[in-house]
Amino acid sequence: MDIDYKKMLELAKEVSKNSYAPFSKFHVGACVMGGSGKLYQGCNFENSSFGLTICAERCAIGNAISHGEKQILAVAIYSPESDECYPCGACRQVIFEFKGDFETEIITEKNNEPKIDKISHLLPFGFKI
Ligand code: THU
Repeated sequence: MDIDYKKMLELAKEVSKNSYAPFSKFHVGACVMGGSGKLYQGCNFENSSFGLTICAERCAIGNAISHGEKQILAVAIYSPESDECYPCGACRQVIFEFKGDFETEIITEKNNEPKIDKISHLLPFGFKI
């Protein structure tokens, strides 16, 4: 499966504009590729009860899963507030769940260029039943 890293980052950037982050003011967008090759976007949305916040990555993964995807092949993350915005620990665990046999690729932006990693590098010895 060909992965267009720049396009995925562009879609992550676009959806970061919809982020609801009145508390942290840290806006994040994500774009994930499902096993079908289709792309899905998501953004973070916070809550007055802070612990209920959903990260952009998990929002995008929920979007993909609810459209019938069973695997997540790639995750691109963008924040206007941070170069190289990596997924938090909770999102790494959620991404790991859907990696399948493929090693999900993690795409961040560094100095306006895509930087690629693999989920098993970000979450070594990941837990899965
Ligand atoms: N956030 C994400 O959306 N993804 C990450 O990987 C890191 C953190 C959000 C959660 C919260 O709304 C804000 O960024 C600050 O933590």
